[in-house]
Amino acid sequence: MGGAAMTTTVITGIGELVTNDPARAEQGGLLGLLTDAAVVVEGSHVAWVGPAADAPAADVQVDAGGRAVIPGFVDSHSHLVFAGDRSAEFEARMTGQPYTAGGIRRTVARTRAATDEQLTSHVARLVAEMRAQGTTSVEIKSGYGLSVHDEARSLAVARQFTDETTFLGAHVVPADTTSEDYVALVTGPMLAAAAPHARWIDVFCEDGAFDVDQARAILQAGTDSGLRGRLHANQLTYGGGVRLACELGLVAVDHCTYLSDADVAALASSGTIATLLPGVEFSTRHPYPDARGLLDAGVRVALASDCNPGSCFTSSMALCIALAVREMRMSPAEALHAATATGAAALDRDDVGVLAPGKAADLVLLDAPSYVHLAYRPGVPLVAGVWQAGRPVVHSSR
Ligand code: NIG
Ligand code: FE
Repeated sequence: MGGAAMTTTVITGIGELVTNDPARAEQGGLLGLLTDAAVVVEGSHVAWVGPAADAPAADVQVDAGGRAVIPGFVDSHSHLVFAGDRSAEFEARMTGQPYTAGGIRRTVARTRAATDEQLTSHVARLVAEMRAQGTTSVEIKSGYGLSVHDEARSLAVARQFTDETTFLGAHVVPADTTSEDYVALVTGPMLAAAAPHARWIDVFCEDGAFDVDQARAILQAGTDSGLRGRLHANQLTYGGGVRLACELGLVAVDHCTYLSDADVAALASSGTIATLLPGVEFSTRHPYPDARGLLDAGVRVALASDCNPGSCFTSSMALCIALAVREMRMSPAEALHAATATGAAALDRDDVGVLAPGKAADLVLLDAPSYVHLAYRPGVPLVAGVWQAGRPVVHSSR
């Protein structure tokens, strides 16, 4: 690394360490588990991982006291840039009203009326809420601006918190325009204003939002402007969105709630990651996606929160893991892997989601002897400490 010596920290006494390191799969399984382990952090990166008894000395020593350490969660799907509250819609759903995409327009009106400072402080609050629950990487979408100015500023706000920003101008067609005119705006001036602040482009491909041909045109325009594609597909109905994502070779397609056999086959052969968002099914009373069927078919599955004011207002990756285990028949190990390493893969990142030398020092100390407690103790705050890029950012007094 060279230059001035960086501070080193050894976290030792780790009863169970989840590394997600494929090099440890033979002994440690999918999660590359180590027991009685230590991790050495140097600056912002992991410098060493191994048995506690062999750990090298470091400037600072932290004793995990036999508790578990996992990689920070990688939440690859969220919509944090918004204003206003839609709890009344949730309440109506819980007494029988269906979820509809139309509620998005209510948030658009509130978001347009908010100042940049209000949007920024709201995102800061939600990112801090996520961090306190163990999320160290987050993707943030626009999509509640739906004008050139409001989409660009939503992304500029998001960029203050993450490099993983996604232009979702194609969320719904705003009330005062036609879908033809709006697709022209999204693929023209709005894309030009958004692209400097975004890494990804996304489309809500669904009845009531954008169809497959519109999604294809929007993703193509984004790719031509240097963005990478991702897609909301098959959330509320069956349709061609998932197959479009596979055909285009997108890194991930998100929701995947209503899948035909042909969709599952397309996912398995394309290698496109299916990102499942079980908080949405919890909050809309739709059926949960068939994670077990996807995994058994050889599809790579990620889990993310989809934190947004309409379909799912949770920021808790632990809740998503618990739902995936209880309701979607993922094993606790599969669910944690999906919320960390495969979440990173869904953002085409290999520097996070894994604890191995050279990777980001994004670690979570759990107040539990095993990662299994994430699903075994649903709803219980288990995060005792968080390091992000090597910095301690959360400490619990428990
Ligand atoms: O991912 N599906 C589209 N967008 C969000 C929900 C948006 C809203 O209802 O505000 C989602 O579920
Ligand atoms: Fe979403």
